[in-house]
Amino acid sequence: MKVFSLLIFIGLAHLSFAQPLYKDKKAPVESRIKDLIQRMTVEEKILQLNQYTFGENRNVNNIGKEMNELPAGIGSLIYFSADPVMRNRIQKKAMDSSRLGIPILFGFDVIHGFRTVYPISIAQACSWNPSLVTQNCRAAAKESVLSGVDWTFSPMIDVARDPRWGRVSEGYGEDPYTNAIFGVATVKGYQGASLSDSFSIAACLKHYVGYGLSEGGRDYHYSDVSAQSLWETYLPPYEACVKAGAATLMSAFNDISGVPATANHYTLTEILKQRWKHDGFVVADWNAVDQLVAQGVAKDRKEAGLKAFTAGVEMDMRDNIYRENFKQLIQEQKITMAQINDAVSRILRVKFGLGLFDQPYTAIVSEKDRYLQPYSVQLAADLAAESMVLLKNKNNTLPIGIGVKQVAVIGPMAKDKTNIIGSWSFNGHSADAQSIYEGLEHEFQGKASLNYAKGCAFDGQDEAGFDEAIAVASKSDVVIVCLGEEKTWSGENASRSTIALPAIQEKLVAALKKTGKQIVLVLSNGRPLELLRLEPLSDAIVEIWQPGIAGGDALAGILSGRINPSAKLAITFPLTTGQIPTYYDMRQSARPKEGLYQDIATEPLYWFGHGLSYANFSYAQPVASAIKVKKQGKVSVSVSVKNTSEVEGKETALWYISQPVASISRPMKELKFFEKKNLKAGEEATFTFEIVPTRDLSFTDANGNRHLEAGDYFIEVGKKKVKIELVD
Ligand code: BGC
Repeated sequence: MKVFSLLIFIGLAHLSFAQPLYKDKKAPVESRIKDLIQRMTVEEKILQLNQYTFGENRNVNNIGKEMNELPAGIGSLIYFSADPVMRNRIQKKAMDSSRLGIPILFGFDVIHGFRTVYPISIAQACSWNPSLVTQNCRAAAKESVLSGVDWTFSPMIDVARDPRWGRVSEGYGEDPYTNAIFGVATVKGYQGASLSDSFSIAACLKHYVGYGLSEGGRDYHYSDVSAQSLWETYLPPYEACVKAGAATLMSAFNDISGVPATANHYTLTEILKQRWKHDGFVVADWNAVDQLVAQGVAKDRKEAGLKAFTAGVEMDMRDNIYRENFKQLIQEQKITMAQINDAVSRILRVKFGLGLFDQPYTAIVSEKDRYLQPYSVQLAADLAAESMVLLKNKNNTLPIGIGVKQVAVIGPMAKDKTNIIGSWSFNGHSADAQSIYEGLEHEFQGKASLNYAKGCAFDGQDEAGFDEAIAVASKSDVVIVCLGEEKTWSGENASRSTIALPAIQEKLVAALKKTGKQIVLVLSNGRPLELLRLEPLSDAIVEIWQPGIAGGDALAGILSGRINPSAKLAITFPLTTGQIPTYYDMRQSARPKEGLYQDIATEPLYWFGHGLSYANFSYAQPVASAIKVKKQGKVSVSVSVKNTSEVEGKETALWYISQPVASISRPMKELKFFEKKNLKAGEEATFTFEIVPTRDLSFTDANGNRHLEAGDYFIEVGKKKVKIELVD
């Protein structure tokens, strides 16, 4: 009897005095989660499902209240600050004042760099250099970690085919495969080899799903997504990034064919959690839970919370709906404790994964050592150089020859340092950025003189600066006109009814053209533009997007010929706004030669994949390793590409597949692989695509089931095709 009591005493003593299992660094994460969950009260669990904001809110679309009384046990904060000391103070409150010492997860929109601002995502995709993008994201993660951020709301992998939608700037263009590859590259950069690495942050795939299809390009609107296009176009980037280990996702604002993305059990639970087995969590977008009322699927906030949570949204971003209503919903048995425990476990899994329980605080490093490190600025310059697209180069206008002594630099973007860093650069400082003019000044120092005039503003009617611009152009050998969009014209809540630049900018070019000088048009913008009137006036056109802090230097290098442009468009430029939607992987029309526009050309101005170089690359006929291939077999197709010019350059081979006949009609062609190589003058290289039929030749139906059908397939590269036959 005595021995028995002693044993009980020892057992209890273990429970009450020894370190709890969840605090044991060496214990397996799943055991730590289980242990912690069983110690938590209902209130503590509910708090974990909420995200508040802290600090000055710099997203104009998100007007939040500064929090005076922050609950110590809150799940997460959007940290609108970059101060690690402040973060540590808040974290200390969570660790010391919450009963169980659960760390807060600090989230922030690190979209294309933190303080070192890189090119925007659509530009990154045009580089066709995912490993460079991984390096940039790794550097951004380090700046973020040192500023107190654990979790970024990036990458945005919404396939976007309507450039009226401002958010095309935030994603990787019109193609599902491109979004998948760059999404994965980004996740790898943020999360590193392991989430627990000191400089890793958790990624968040957004906006799940179909947001890129907002009707008419109007942000926050309905998106009519058929089941076929959901599986074929919008889900694949998410599936790839989930497989790559992305820790979290964000549910979108849009209503997907009648069931809002934030209340969509099919996409959030059946697909994401059950089919793809994602074990991290989903956060709602800003106010997206509350907005279920506006979207007409919930009568009040309480019902909105119930719908979002039971559909599969574990964390409520800032709405406070979960916190206000969940205790009651549990009492009413509308939400079970098993559901709550599963949701909390998912959030804790990310916190444990990041190592926050073991190292909740940020190391304090001076700003000088934290930001704009030379390697990071160099990465910004490299990525900018690889993402600028040479769209037109009539009679080799570019590069600017050594005989040119007077260069006119004109336009509202020429000396701009605010817009050039782009939207979603909250911690970016325009003072860190190099303007186009500064880049040119540096590049042409001692070689040519620059003659500057602003000409006009980005918008408005004021032509007062035209005369000066014309005078400057008249005395120069070549005219570089720098036009574009202000950064607030793209990004969230930045829809435009036309993708043409304001008339004043077009008028400026028309006036300059009258001088008879060669016109080099430089465009900085977040979306494809309508260039119907500008293209004929321009001898050369360079699309620099919003290139970040090192854009001026990269562009100057391209204009002088020091850098050979190598980017290709990841999104089509329609000829006019009225052509939208235009995307390369459309389905065949029933009458390919009819049904065309009667008033304008039907072809877009620049297709996906268009981009020039100062080198010339000549593609031989691609050759397949076998003509007949078994479904379970493999085949490789190779093509020899020769740099026939006298300059070194990088070429990206884009490999497309088409299947003329199938049980579900297929797009005219689909990108399945790409590879970028550097070729010296005169060098010849072989590009090879290893085709795995189950992966590359199969297609999905409207339920997500894959089909692989025998028949003919065409493999296209460099506008040349080879046929293979798939057999059983
Ligand atoms: C945007 C998200 C962003 C979130 C947090 C929302 O308005 O849609 O993309 O991550 O705010 O700032």
